[in-house]
Amino acid sequence: MKFTLYMPTKVFYGKNCVKEQAKEFSAFGNKALIVTGKSSGKKSGALKDVTDILISLSIEYWVFDKVENNPSLETVKKGSIIAKANQVSVIIAIGGGSPIDAAKAIAALSVNNIEPIELLTTSIKIPSLPIIVIPTTAGTGSEVTPYSILTAKQFNTKKNFYSPYSFPTITFLDYKYTCSLPDRVTIDTAFDAFSHLLESYLSNKCTKQSAIYAIEGLKVFANCLLAIDERKFTDNIRDQLLYASYMGGLAITLTGTTIIHAMGYSLTYYKALSHGHANTLFIGEYLRFNNQADKEKIENVLKILKFSAIIDLETYLLKNIGKKPTISQEEINKFATLAMTQGSVKNNPRVIKESDIIKIYQKVLLR
Ligand SMILES: [Fe+2]
Repeated sequence: MKFTLYMPTKVFYGKNCVKEQAKEFSAFGNKALIVTGKSSGKKSGALKDVTDILISLSIEYWVFDKVENNPSLETVKKGSIIAKANQVSVIIAIGGGSPIDAAKAIAALSVNNIEPIELLTTSIKIPSLPIIVIPTTAGTGSEVTPYSILTAKQFNTKKNFYSPYSFPTITFLDYKYTCSLPDRVTIDTAFDAFSHLLESYLSNKCTKQSAIYAIEGLKVFANCLLAIDERKFTDNIRDQLLYASYMGGLAITLTGTTIIHAMGYSLTYYKALSHGHANTLFIGEYLRFNNQADKEKIENVLKILKFSAIIDLETYLLKNIGKKPTISQEEINKFATLAMTQGSVKNNPRVIKESDIIKIYQKVLLR
């Protein structure tokens, strides 16, 4: 056995953990930049809870609430300009995957004298500012990973920025901040968490330890399947979805994702599908493609989720997400070429060629 483990994030899990652990905010100087989206921080109540704490601790703060879905390099540059101009000492991310990923980039750019594009092409030299994370969705996993997915027009796709300095310093996980989410976002993000658990478990980088996280998350996700189908998101279900997302984050920190994420990025970039929606479309074909390489594990996943065959799981997933986008053969060829540029392709349990990816796109989107 041989592996490396580095997961330095301090995690507080449970209802009201932000308020209960308010003193944790005082450990990082007295100037903070809050990075959030247009509405999630406010609607969830997380922004008010955090600003109340900062005021009580006499920590000066600025709010950068311009993070869009799938944050661009331009957006993270704007955030870092505010951080630098005010010499902030900590970045606080409130929101879903987009604000969290943007915060990781802003925390790096605030101390490294580089352009945002360089985050994707070189390693950062100076440790990022500390990052405190409060998710308001249950799915991204970014709350415990070092990954930041940024939209790069220069590459015509989403690209992963990764650094050991980009792990959140502290993450507060409280399901109550996810209770105001619309059903559509709840389901798409829950299925993103499911894809992390599944891809990590089947990844050729899967270890005994990562499999423990993945299987634990899959078991918890299994408890939520009926509630998702019936759109009955009780506090207990939201708590379990957040925990499953957290397990997915821990699992992919150890293994990365595989081809589902690589293939989904173009549907988000070119067809404006949400990340979870894009991933979910490919899950059935992904399992069929990999069945000969990892039949035993796939059977175990189906057993945990209580589906008797891949087609039953696929039918369940597809009826709970939005429509497939219309697509041309020309677009498929372009998307397959782009998917092959993603590092996660080599984690796939079965060696995959561009022609295989074209076939999967065709089966999923043209049939
Ligand atoms: Fe994801």
